[in-house]
Amino acid sequence: MKGSNELRTPGLLQTLQLITQPTQFLENCAAKYGDTFTVRVIGLKSPPVVFFSHPQAISDCFAVPAQKLDFQKATHVFKPLFGENSIVLKETRSHHRQRQLLLPAFHGDRIKSYGQSICQITERVTKDWTLGTIVSIHNLMSDITLQIILEVVFGVSPGLRYQQLKTQLSSLLEDVTKPWYSSLFFFPILQQDFGAWSPWGSFLRRRQQIDKLIYAEIHERRWQNDAERTDILSLLMSARDENGQQMTDEELRDQLVSLLLLGYETTAGVLAWVFYLIHSHPEVKNQLMQELNTLDNTINPEAITQLPYLTAVCQETLRIYPIALICTPRMVKDAVEIMGNKFTSGTILVPCIYLAHRRAETYPEADKFRPERFLNQKFSPHEYLPFGGGYRGCIGAVFSMYEMKLVLATILSRFKLTLADNLPVHPVRRGITIVPRGGVQMIVI
Ligand code: HEM
Repeated sequence: MKGSNELRTPGLLQTLQLITQPTQFLENCAAKYGDTFTVRVIGLKSPPVVFFSHPQAISDCFAVPAQKLDFQKATHVFKPLFGENSIVLKETRSHHRQRQLLLPAFHGDRIKSYGQSICQITERVTKDWTLGTIVSIHNLMSDITLQIILEVVFGVSPGLRYQQLKTQLSSLLEDVTKPWYSSLFFFPILQQDFGAWSPWGSFLRRRQQIDKLIYAEIHERRWQNDAERTDILSLLMSARDENGQQMTDEELRDQLVSLLLLGYETTAGVLAWVFYLIHSHPEVKNQLMQELNTLDNTINPEAITQLPYLTAVCQETLRIYPIALICTPRMVKDAVEIMGNKFTSGTILVPCIYLAHRRAETYPEADKFRPERFLNQKFSPHEYLPFGGGYRGCIGAVFSMYEMKLVLATILSRFKLTLADNLPVHPVRRGITIVPRGGVQMIVI
């Protein structure tokens, strides 16, 4: 493992820093050890975990054939939540098959059909805002993006089951992203059901309640058998594999829960960052408002999503605060070579999105928020990778960019907001994401 500088501090300290101050830790490592460095993470049986940020290394990493890598070693922690059939836990052929099945639902014309509903949900959630209303932007964005994914993507209609799902999913996600609760997933020894009051017992019961609601939805849809429906659940239900087999209820459940949990908090976190960044950079906000003012008053999702400056604002936000700091870790099964360095079986490879986005060679004055970078230059998929890349890249990338632009345009063209205070906001870890500390408090003015 030549060429991958190993950190010289104790493994426990490295792990604690990675958990408690992830962005600072990564920046310090890059400053001290360069583009590639090796961390020892306690709890992963201490295999070397190699972080890369050089575009060539990231390109090499994405190009490693799937058979040479093991994704489950790193993603198995999601199993109790997502289920064993989740796309996230699948490998090689069955992973490829699931992607083929899911991808069409998140692209092209299918996405365009969601546009009006995204704007309407955003209007519905903000309809009671008046002068002086104080909003916690992050909470609000989570509410909007959860409703969008439930209603628009999965086709669950507002009603009792919808309300229960919404409440229970957001409460579960709120808890599993807390450090003490998330440690239950990393240490199987803590996964003991000592009744409803024990942490794991409580998790299992909450999961059971969510599953009951999801299975009820699946059964209702099977019974209705409505061929006109175009949402993802319907698409998955009508899909057949090469032997003509339908997905079982358990497979459908696992896919739905994975997409729900991966899909809404990520987009909500980025939206919270956008609101903070544009309101703390008045020149950006003015330019964005000028662009939005060129639109007429009718809701036209296609016109909105084509706006170049709005697109650049979202891209630059995802560059400076990529909600996921790293790609899914990839464990080497069969020796691989990255930028001329050999890595042996057991090594964990981590393309580091955060550091790739902060490279001064690629992004001069990388810590400055400058959306115009994306107007003047095109970056390669190995320099700019907020959604990861290769055959494991995010399947919701196009959808979430589309969604973000519509939510932003709908709110900004109806309300004027200001930050509740001028204090700088720092990133804080929330599960596998980094979000603005304090949730970004704003006032309607
Ligand atoms: C701004 C929002 C989002 C960001 C920044 C984001 C980021 C990411 C990243 C970095 C990965 C890992 C990619 C890799 O290892 O190469 C990923 C994977 C994934 N994301 Fe997203 N994501 C977002 C929204 C969504 C949405 C809306 C969905 C679906 C509803 C989604 C579903 C997934 C799935 C299923 C995977 C696993 C793909 C696989 O293993 O094949 N994400 N995402």
